Amino acid sequence: MNLIFLGPPGAGKGTLAAKAVDILKLQGVLSPHISTGNIFRAAIAAKSPLGLKVKAIIDAGKLVDDDTTIELVRERLARDDAKKGYILDGFPRTIAQAEALAGFSAVDKVVNFDIPDSGVLERLGGRRVCRKCGHNFHMIFDRPKAEGVCDHCGGEVYTRDDDKPEAVQKRLEVYRAQTAPLIDYYRKQDLLIDVDARPAVDQVVENFKHSLGL
Ligand code: AP5
Repeated sequence: MNLIFLGPPGAGKGTLAAKAVDILKLQGVLSPHISTGNIFRAAIAAKSPLGLKVKAIIDAGKLVDDDTTIELVRERLARDDAKKGYILDGFPRTIAQAEALAGFSAVDKVVNFDIPDSGVLERLGGRRVCRKCGHNFHMIFDRPKAEGVCDHCGGEVYTRDDDKPEAVQKRLEVYRAQTAPLIDYYRKQDLLIDVDARPAVDQVVENFKHSLGL
């Protein structure tokens, strides 16, 4: 199954994608979680040419240009592990990206994570991320057991630069202007599924399973 996870920053797309991979595995479907944000952050950490190009853009809460992002996803989806299905988290984010994707992959469903701005601000304000394995924590809802240390791999837990208040405001503006139009775009194609992303993680998982008939 080729799935897209759509929604505002901090809606919980990455958190649910990690769980959805396990749910689909139980159904016998191996789907990699492909997050363009994670790919960019890994490139930044590695100080690769891509990382050096995108760091300032991401830290400011703006979007990386369409051509770079489309090419990255086109190459990623061509790899063997994505041939039987994938969860695309954070792509497409513009109509141009969605149109390009339609040219190289057929999407089965688009899961739209529905949450108001107040929920976004609460989630991003408390988010902490493991620098090594990428696991998401939250200082209220899901604290690491030891301060600053990942429960899963012992890596350093840090605050993303783009979770600073100015960058979060910019990301919300960018989301409304450039990404939210994808909701209608995919609804018109009868591909959209709305998931209420406001409740606790376990309930969002149930909402997701129910909406996909899993
Ligand atoms: P990206 O990493 O994709 O950022 P985003 O879409 O803004 O999404 P987030 O990762 O911030 O949030 P999320 O929805 O995954 O929430 P999470 O699960 O972490 O992109 C970063 C940047 O890269 C972009 O700004 C852009 O510059 C660039 N980029 C990426 N893709 C691009 C593209 N296609 N085109 C151009 N540029 C691109 O959860 C948030 C917090 O809430 C966590 O702390 C979590 O523990 C907690 N939480 C989650 N769910 C719940 C719940 N149900 N209850 C309580 N807490 C919860």
